[in-house]
Amino acid sequence: MSAAIAERGSQKTEQPQPKEWGVTLSAADFSHIRKLAYDHFGLDLKQGKEAQVSARLSKRIRDAGLSGVKEYLARLDRDASGEALRELVDDLTTHYTSFLREREHFDWLRERVLADWPSPQQLRIWSAGCSTGEEPYSILFTVMDAEPSTKRLELFATDVSRPVLESSASGVYEEERLKGLPPGWGPRYFQKGHGRWAGFCRVKADLRSRIRFDRVNLMEPMGGLPSFHVIFCRNVMIYFDRATQERLVSQFVSRLEPGGYLFIGHSEGLMAINHSLEFLKAAIYRKPGRPSRR
Ligand SMILES: C[S@@+](CC[C@H](N)C(=O)[O-])C[C@H]1O[C@@H](n2cnc3c(N)ncnc32)[C@H](O)[C@@H]1O
Repeated sequence: MSAAIAERGSQKTEQPQPKEWGVTLSAADFSHIRKLAYDHFGLDLKQGKEAQVSARLSKRIRDAGLSGVKEYLARLDRDASGEALRELVDDLTTHYTSFLREREHFDWLRERVLADWPSPQQLRIWSAGCSTGEEPYSILFTVMDAEPSTKRLELFATDVSRPVLESSASGVYEEERLKGLPPGWGPRYFQKGHGRWAGFCRVKADLRSRIRFDRVNLMEPMGGLPSFHVIFCRNVMIYFDRATQERLVSQFVSRLEPGGYLFIGHSEGLMAINHSLEFLKAAIYRKPGRPSRR
């Protein structure tokens, strides 16, 4: 047993589980999970993923000290606070991300977007499904590289998962993850950790405070959000079926300013759905209309 698990509570160390402990979902259990995941988070769990889902939920069931799948499902069904459902979405999605992932998007941001909305115009950008924060920080650093003392950027970063949002807001990363960043970004944007934080870097406090982190489930109404000049929603729609993607893209369109950009993941595409966006190049779309000069 790892030290981390042993430290979490004496109960778990007192009741050692067999090495291969795991649950197997019946077809009915899988349908139950599938429906919850779809209704609450838009996740489209494909048939054939039973083993993968069983493996992911086993850890949750074991760590919560539940007797098995039935007790777990009952807990989800009477989940008044929504906490168990929030854990479910964490268990069923991956949070893989990296700094400057799909780098061409950041080139486009620097070369095209900043030209469409020249300083001092406000520039509102939303990183939807920001995971552990590498995406919104990459956006911030790209804009700051071009405009070092910029005050005009308003940056929103949201995710459905609280643990990843907390990690984003803390801005702490293993030094390894900074490899390959442009020269100068390390000292300019990060503090190096010392002592017990050796091997880690932290985004400087004044930069962390430039980003508004919030929990947003993309399946829920977005009434509280402003309009944006750019929306990044990359490697998130991959979890959704066509109908959900279409609904979401239509919401993004209504949140975009005329001439605003939508960036999606390179492995995603809007070919199969109806939308009113103009295709510019792989994974970059634009809302028709001229950017307003405000
Ligand atoms: C693979 S990460 C993508 C991170 C980043 N955008 C990138 O491309 O590197 C997918 C993120 O989507 C989030 N997500 C999944 N379903 C969501 C939903 N219904 N609403 C909001 N975020 C969701 C997950 O929590 C996860 O952090």
